[in-house]
Amino acid sequence: MSDYGSIADDDLTEEQAKAELARLSREIAHHDALYHGKDAPDISDSDYDNLRLRNEKIEARFPHLIRSDSPSHRVGSAVSTGFLKVAHTVPMLSLDNAFRPEDVDEFVGRVRRFLNLSSDQALMLIAEPKIDGLSASLRYENGILVQGLTRGDGKVGENITQNLKTIQDIPQKLKGRDFPDILEIRGEVYMAKDDFFTLNKQQDTIGKPPFANPRNAAAGSLRQLDSRITASRRLHFFAYGWGEVSDNFGDTQYDCLEKMRSWGFVINDLVLRCKNSMQAIQQYNKIGERRAKLAYDIDGVVYKVDRLDLQERLGMVARSPRWAIAHKFPAEKAITILKDVDFQVGRTGVITPVARLQPVTVGGVVVSNATLHNADEILRLQVKIGDEVIVQRAGDVIPQLVEVVKTSEQSRVINFPKNCPSCHSHLEREEGEVAWRCSGGLICPAQRVERLKHFVSRNAFDIDGLGSKQIEFFFSEGMIESPADIFTLEKKDTEGLSRLKNRDGWGDLSVSNLWQAIRDRRIISFDRFIFALGIHHIGQQNARLLCLNYVTVENLMAVMDQAHDHASEAYEQLLNIDGIGPKVADSLVGFFAEPHNKDVLERLLAEITVLPFEAPDRDNSPLAGKTIVFTGSLEKMTRQEAKASAEKRGAKVSGSVSSKTDILVAGPGAGSKLKKATDLGIKILSEQEWLDHIK
Ligand code: IVH
Repeated sequence: MSDYGSIADDDLTEEQAKAELARLSREIAHHDALYHGKDAPDISDSDYDNLRLRNEKIEARFPHLIRSDSPSHRVGSAVSTGFLKVAHTVPMLSLDNAFRPEDVDEFVGRVRRFLNLSSDQALMLIAEPKIDGLSASLRYENGILVQGLTRGDGKVGENITQNLKTIQDIPQKLKGRDFPDILEIRGEVYMAKDDFFTLNKQQDTIGKPPFANPRNAAAGSLRQLDSRITASRRLHFFAYGWGEVSDNFGDTQYDCLEKMRSWGFVINDLVLRCKNSMQAIQQYNKIGERRAKLAYDIDGVVYKVDRLDLQERLGMVARSPRWAIAHKFPAEKAITILKDVDFQVGRTGVITPVARLQPVTVGGVVVSNATLHNADEILRLQVKIGDEVIVQRAGDVIPQLVEVVKTSEQSRVINFPKNCPSCHSHLEREEGEVAWRCSGGLICPAQRVERLKHFVSRNAFDIDGLGSKQIEFFFSEGMIESPADIFTLEKKDTEGLSRLKNRDGWGDLSVSNLWQAIRDRRIISFDRFIFALGIHHIGQQNARLLCLNYVTVENLMAVMDQAHDHASEAYEQLLNIDGIGPKVADSLVGFFAEPHNKDVLERLLAEITVLPFEAPDRDNSPLAGKTIVFTGSLEKMTRQEAKASAEKRGAKVSGSVSSKTDILVAGPGAGSKLKKATDLGIKILSEQEWLDHIK
């Protein structure tokens, strides 16, 4: 076949373009296979990107030539730099919730009253499953997918076009001709339950933490900067609505869905037209019965007024349409038998009782363990081994044991241990805390292995191929006992007799990948490093605070040494850090004073380099040290973004207005804080003025 690769895309004739698209499809597929399958690409990323770009440009010129095996269907560009924020032309609304049939009757009553319908006038509704995924908005211009956005805050979303293009259910070119020139289709991206389980198995094999549920897995997959990763996760899309359209394409919701189906979208097949709330609730019950067997997770049924002219009249209130409501399913429960209780030891020694259950399906998932939280919870539930109990799985949380249904003479009392099940040290409980803790500290193997797991976890050292399972293996083999051992593992292995690559479950490639992943982490950021140490009370946020204040690990250690003396300036300084109280300070100082920890740190620091923390440029910021209060509803950014925008510039964010407040940023609906700030003569900015101010 001819190669027109040397002709500029703009100069290609239709025939040449067709041949070029075929060539590009083959060539890109070849490079994808090398990249994914063999991990051995033979062209540079930028050459690869150029191939894709050329393919995209030719497709844009000749949309009718887009091939069914087009690379843009399969994967997006190799690496993008981040997601751009884009405002929705029509806001993406959320839904009001109903929990009981009465709430649904009330909804219908409200709608009828609003529309002034007489009792003999029918009100058609449609009922459809509420898919537990993430909504997305797809913009088509003249039938070609030009942009795909996340919902974001409903007003501004993120541009994830490349990632959405990898989803098979999303057509890149619409079928038929009768679509509006501008058409925004909205719907839900989700991961099927089967694919979710498979993905979690893969995550486990590569030492990555599992996703809690299909929704999180879908979200994680969609928010990948490298759309090849999104492409490798099987995502789906149900279309259920629309945003901006240049022409109406039906009179009812139902007809519009049918039209959308004809253009190539996947419409859920449980969508039903109902005459009244009774029929709608019947459909809710029917869908509820089928819920566990459905291939995807749903969390309720959405009812929508079918006629679009009525929807238009009803309009919206707050951020939800008046013409729709989500009838949620209750948390999923099942009855089973409590067979036994195990006591697990966590990283900081906390003992968690775990209920071992006779396996039972709860909402389609087999549950054989549930948490009992702590000793107080066992007392509260008055549960005994052998009892019939109710377990509940609500959304993404770990199954819980919620109630005893039946107990018997044979049931046995649960004895909360007095000693650690791993190292037999006695358990202790701090005043005011519910948790019992093992007092064994570093002699406790269970705590040590949990600390190591924490050390390599996602927000800490995040070492590919070294997850919980592998840590348990290396720990039980005596190969990793302390964090430094991770970094000497390769050397020891090369010098040793029984090489890792010859062990069951390991091979040349997986071992060399592991060595590489470990080498990659010999240089680590200061905040990850502190977090990885797993010091009691030091989570990610406190780790960042310490970085900001102490900048280098050497400095931190020196200061902690001095702070051991509570009368020292170092200790006082530590307490002066906003967010660090005596409990946290003592835990820190105690950690660095402990001889064993000193030893662990010394060995670790001999192997790795901790980068000094690079603080954002605050000294030059006019906002440094200022106190800002945000109030009212913000439209262009979330509260968290607003807070971050101020903190990044060295300002403090406070929740209340006082004479110390420097600036009040007020959005619509601002009330008493705005009044107080006005009275106090404090500078007041609108959200836009704030954004201009910080530019
Ligand atoms: S309609 C204007 N229909 O639920 C109405 N939403 O709580 C907007 N969702 O953000 C949505 N399945 O992510 C609609 N069949 C369905 C849905 C659905 C899932 C999600 C959607 C939305 C959220 C609102």
